[in-house]
Amino acid sequence: MNVLILGSGGREHALAWKINQSKLLQKLYIAPGNAGTGEVGTNLNIQPTDFSKVKQAVIDYKISLVIVGPEDPLVKGIHNYFLADELLKDVMVIGPQKIAAQLEGSKEFAKKFMVKHHIPTAKYKSFTEESLEEGYTFLESLNAPYVLKADGLAAGKGVVILNDLQKAKDELSEMLANQKFGKASSKVVIEEFLDGIELSCFVLTDGTSYVKLPHAKDYKRIGEGDTGLNTGGMGAISPVPFASKEFLDKVENQVIIPTIEGLKKDKIPYKGFIFFGLIMVNNNPKVIEYNCRMGDPETEVVIPRIKSDLLELFIATGQNKLNAKNIEFIKESAATVMLVSGGYPEAYEKGKEIKGISAVKNSIIFQAGTTIKNDKIVTNGGRVLAVTSYGENFKEALKQSYQNVEKIHFDKLNFRKDIGFDL
Ligand code: AMP
Ligand code: GLY
Repeated sequence: MNVLILGSGGREHALAWKINQSKLLQKLYIAPGNAGTGEVGTNLNIQPTDFSKVKQAVIDYKISLVIVGPEDPLVKGIHNYFLADELLKDVMVIGPQKIAAQLEGSKEFAKKFMVKHHIPTAKYKSFTEESLEEGYTFLESLNAPYVLKADGLAAGKGVVILNDLQKAKDELSEMLANQKFGKASSKVVIEEFLDGIELSCFVLTDGTSYVKLPHAKDYKRIGEGDTGLNTGGMGAISPVPFASKEFLDKVENQVIIPTIEGLKKDKIPYKGFIFFGLIMVNNNPKVIEYNCRMGDPETEVVIPRIKSDLLELFIATGQNKLNAKNIEFIKESAATVMLVSGGYPEAYEKGKEIKGISAVKNSIIFQAGTTIKNDKIVTNGGRVLAVTSYGENFKEALKQSYQNVEKIHFDKLNFRKDIGFDL
């Protein structure tokens, strides 16, 4: 069958790389893709939120299955758009409908869902501009640090953690009264601070059954030792040594199963990935967030650890037959190191020629912010490429990635040298 992947990051390159290995694939398209996806499929110059152009491509290229990489088109309702269209309604879409995407699109929706279905999470209250004073009182009742979350999508910047009560009050006012994050912060969730180590778990579900994917840990801060500004993610490893079988069983029983059952009870249809952002507190899982998509750069270590045919699993998802499927993993660990443009996550330059990719041996390069200019691969974003390797353990895998990082060059290249430092 012909498949279309929407998105342009390292996540989409990793998905494209894997789908390209399926014997069920005829032609693979990626919209808009990057220089890397162009090597395993055909890039289409279409933005994922331009639904009418996506529709035209699906018809023109006889696409039977669409995989939605990023959250934006899901929260905007791309799956519903397909279901409502006579020509698209039978096309399988991997990615939930609008209501289910609210698990990521609205922090308050997610919190209410977790409380209703007894899924462990931080205690919280939500506030609007009208209840600003009550928000101040609630902050006074908490101990530092204070966690403030814009309700809506804010490009990964909507969570602010502050140690000082007055600063937390000022931030609340900035978000609610001054709309710091626009409409996304017209409602703010204030929650209890959880102290622990984070990890990400993933399932693929058809709304009734699910398969668990490998778990991973990502490194979000720009600076070594987890310092400095938040980024999309600077590296990841899978599996993480601290996630024991006992802990992962708790995740399944206390988080994954109640989530799938909760969706069913609430009659919220769900076909696609669920990303559980977890924190381990006293060896128990608590949910920090849901995402309605795969993580980036987690995908760049999770997908390479799947042995099974992913397209076969996607088709089973589309046909509500996931209960008949098993998933096989590769036993080895995987690690990825993200190479970024100097200045990222603040201002950075684009268009720098990338050299050395072909010299890389025994690692997989998943490209993110890259494009082709005058037949050369050049930088085209903050996160430029991910260097993924396998190893007997995460340290071996990282060693391999770091060896290959040395072979890649572009002006102002930056990366973290300490991925996995805390394990
Ligand atoms: P989110 O956008 O919800 O993933 O939050 C961004 C980051 O903020 C998370 O990855 C955590 O590191 C941190 N965070 C969010 N909520 C909490 C919390 N309740 N306690 C401690 N850290 C948190
Ligand atoms: N790496 C975290 C995310 O994709 O949201």
